[in-house]
Amino acid sequence: MKPPRPTLFDFHGVPMTHIFTDDWENIKHFQARPDDILIATYPKAGTTWVSYILDLLYFSQTRPDRQTSMPIYERVPFLENKKPNHPSGTDLANSLDTSPRLIKTHLPVQLIPKSFWEQKCRVVYVARNAKDNAVSYFHFNRMDSVQPEPGDWNSFLQNYMEGQMAFGSWFDHVTGWWERKQSHPKLHYMLFEDMVEDTGREIDKLCSFLGLTSTAAEKEQIRRQSQFDNMKKDDMANYSSAIVMDFKISPFMRKGKVGDWKNHFTVAQNEQFDEEYHKKMNNTTLHFRTEV
Ligand code: A3P
Repeated sequence: MKPPRPTLFDFHGVPMTHIFTDDWENIKHFQARPDDILIATYPKAGTTWVSYILDLLYFSQTRPDRQTSMPIYERVPFLENKKPNHPSGTDLANSLDTSPRLIKTHLPVQLIPKSFWEQKCRVVYVARNAKDNAVSYFHFNRMDSVQPEPGDWNSFLQNYMEGQMAFGSWFDHVTGWWERKQSHPKLHYMLFEDMVEDTGREIDKLCSFLGLTSTAAEKEQIRRQSQFDNMKKDDMANYSSAIVMDFKISPFMRKGKVGDWKNHFTVAQNEQFDEEYHKKMNNTTLHFRTEV
């Protein structure tokens, strides 16, 4: 018998599941270090891709053993993750022996442990257009048994528009982090669509933000290595060892495209979504592309 799917509840104004809140005392009091790098995203925005690139930028020369022996979710711990019978994200982060430590989070900006701000850590935020993000999240919730039951696509999409998802509303998440960027110079805000369009250019921007002096040859090697087809084949990056995921339902490395939403949204769903989108994103300077 499969254990029941977790359900959402209100956590400081954000829908969450117990998996991401059970360790809250340790998360809240997490001690960041000044050189920690926080990779923050709404779920399914390209977290693994950027984590993989950062890990290679920092450690491909000095710690190649990491890439061949440690799954990405151990190299880059997921801060608020607390699955039964697994080490918590905070424990994994505290046991990292690297400098910097790369740490992943899906928390909305207002729930980030204050130590990251006090220590003035660098933050890399990745956002993805709302429609592709919804599609990716839907397929992920179908295959990951510790995510809430997604229901059918239509009901999932309604819930997504209403922000009834783990980690809350896409709209609040991407705009909340965008606003923080205006006052926090150490926040690099990236877009999934830009990464797909020109990964090399985005790696260059990451290097300038992080103050890295990787050579052109190293960056080109990382660009090639981090292309979708390579990461999909890499058992240390494709989550094939994650027992809570059922790849027969949908693989973790699913399509990696911009515009897959067109294969899912009906004309009516698209019209309704656009209307909601314009209402919710009316007051922001943040713009997304839904095709490249
Ligand atoms: P799709 O479901 O649309 O394929 P996250 O890591 O935040 O969970 O995001 C997962 C999404 O990023 C998935 O999207 C996955 O395929 C995509 N992705 C991961 N690595 C990628 C890469 N190298 N290139 C393009 N997309 C990638």
